[in-house]
Amino acid sequence: MTERPRVRYVTATTLDGFLADEHDSLDWLLEQDHDPRGPGGHEHMDGAGALVMGATTYRWVVDHLARSGEGWPYPQPTFVVTHRTPDLASTSVRLVQGTPTDWWPQVVAAADGRDVWVVGGGALASDLAGEGLLDEVIVSIAPVTLGSGKPLLPARFDLRLRDVDRNRAFVVAHYDVLGRRAG
Ligand SMILES: NC(=O)c1ccc[n+]([C@@H]2O[C@H](COP(=O)([O-])OP(=O)(O)OC[C@H]3O[C@@H](n4cnc5c(N)ncnc54)[C@H](OP(=O)(O)O)[C@@H]3O)[C@@H](O)[C@H]2O)c1
Repeated sequence: MTERPRVRYVTATTLDGFLADEHDSLDWLLEQDHDPRGPGGHEHMDGAGALVMGATTYRWVVDHLARSGEGWPYPQPTFVVTHRTPDLASTSVRLVQGTPTDWWPQVVAAADGRDVWVVGGGALASDLAGEGLLDEVIVSIAPVTLGSGKPLLPARFDLRLRDVDRNRAFVVAHYDVLGRRAG
């Protein structure tokens, strides 16, 4: 039987808890000073055996790569949760849909005992946390507020602070997910 992986949601957020503005812009993030090899970054990504992301996040990555001229950056198997099968079909990713329980076994098998990196967005991370599948949240908090946008974790959960680091402009907070919060 495949060993259960550690499942980590590693992302950046504004101080008021948004992943992106309402137009999916990450301009507020890209202008920040940070060390890509520092806390909250590549150590978690390099340790991952598989990645999971929502369709909007995937679309943003593809558009960003097209603008920068870079190739697909992730060597790991990458799963994109989407209804847009023909639109998003690509050799770089595997498309899945339905509830997490429908496709999670594929992710676990692909991770092959290594960690799973949940790239985002927030609803996907919440769905996984709601199913008890999300173990940790590692969030780099930027010195920006947006007032509105795409939320980091749009549901009620209890977490426990494990560690805090600094990466230049960011506070990097590392939490264990305890479970749903009643109410
Ligand atoms: N700050 C950061 O570090 C960071 C990290 C990650 C993402 N982001 C940004 O944050 C924003 C995230 O936005 P978001 O949370 O709205 O988007 P998301 O999770 O990336 O994508 C949402 C989309 O995923 C698909 N989806 C989700 N659950 C599904 C299911 N069960 N079955 C089938 N399809 C499903 C749906 O697309 P379809 O129905 O159209 O297929 C849905 O509209 C994006 O702009 C992204 O670029 C920022």
